[in-house]
Amino acid sequence: MTEKHSSIVNSGFKRKKLSFVGAGQVGATAAFIAAQKELGDIVILDVMEGIPQGKALDMYEASPIQGFDAHIQGTQNYDDTADSDLVVVTAGIARKAGMSRDDLLTINAKIIAEVVKNIADKSPQCTLIIVTNPLDAMVYTAKQVSGFPSQRVIGMAGVLDSARMRAFIAEALDVSIEDVSACVLGGHGDTMLPLPRYSTVAGIPITQLLSPETVEAICQRTATGGAEIVNYLKTGSAFYAPASSIVEMAEAILKDKKRILPCAAYLDGEYGIEGSYLGVPCKLGGQGIESIMELDLSDDERYSLHSSMHAVRELIAKVDAMHLF
Ligand code: NAI
Ligand code: 2OP
Repeated sequence: MTEKHSSIVNSGFKRKKLSFVGAGQVGATAAFIAAQKELGDIVILDVMEGIPQGKALDMYEASPIQGFDAHIQGTQNYDDTADSDLVVVTAGIARKAGMSRDDLLTINAKIIAEVVKNIADKSPQCTLIIVTNPLDAMVYTAKQVSGFPSQRVIGMAGVLDSARMRAFIAEALDVSIEDVSACVLGGHGDTMLPLPRYSTVAGIPITQLLSPETVEAICQRTATGGAEIVNYLKTGSAFYAPASSIVEMAEAILKDKKRILPCAAYLDGEYGIEGSYLGVPCKLGGQGIESIMELDLSDDERYSLHSSMHAVRELIAKVDAMHLF
């Protein structure tokens, strides 16, 4: 390449930088989807030697076929993640059959504390998307360890839970998923709160389209959607839909799209809840969570949301008792 051409290459344009900590099922799949969407250059970090390097090279070798331009690097070294715009954390252990998300708490809280400390040192301005379970307690841990403003420490769960609900609604009505939207609030666990009144097909609430029994069955299947996959896979948990959900959030942030997506957000009085993470609809843009939307809830819905908050608070208390920050 001539010098003239190389000066064009180094024109000062800087791609966004995304780091994925955890190169397992969810992290690697999300990294590959993000690369395909050309969201930026990608660094994949994992403690397992060779795994992120091998996966990164394999993804890069797919780029001529898929037609995307992105540098993809695998590493064990946090220096390589420096100055990331966005960091996705999936590091930790996943559920196996018979385990609840909450069984993962003690091991994963220590991993999140270590990972987030390193990331905060190297990329103090990044936005964090936390994925590791139990989600709401892990994103709280990340906020405490990083010291970042809460709008830059976000948990991924609601996009996944509502995607599951959307899929089940589309299947029940035999309509395109494109016309279905769904709303799931609360913690990412058994107490999550699917909201049929706010779940629509072309703007029509599903309560007007499906019998109460079918609506109830869809809500129930949504709440146990993660376990349904674990029971099939036995040795791990879902990753295609979770990875797609991460990338939807990442794209909203990196492209400042101001999407309205359900995220685990730190509540500071919204919904009458203070000092806890919980899944609520958020405006996601370049600043991270730019605002939280407060839905008008019935007494029953509000009661259920607060029950979910109590379940999350119990986990947060366990994390606090570990004195990790
Ligand atoms: P996985 O076991 O395939 O991958 C986890 C990776 O983390 C492994 O490659 C492991 O080597 C790595 N790791 C462990 N300790 C680390 C450390 N200290 N630093 C860097 N890397 C480390 O698991 P999978 O399926 O990717 O799930 C990851 C996590 O995401 C689990 O906790 C799972 O429960 C959670 N999850 C959460 C979802 C949500 O909706 N929030 C959806 C799906 C999964
Ligand atoms: C899920 O919902 C395991 O939390 C993960 O699939």
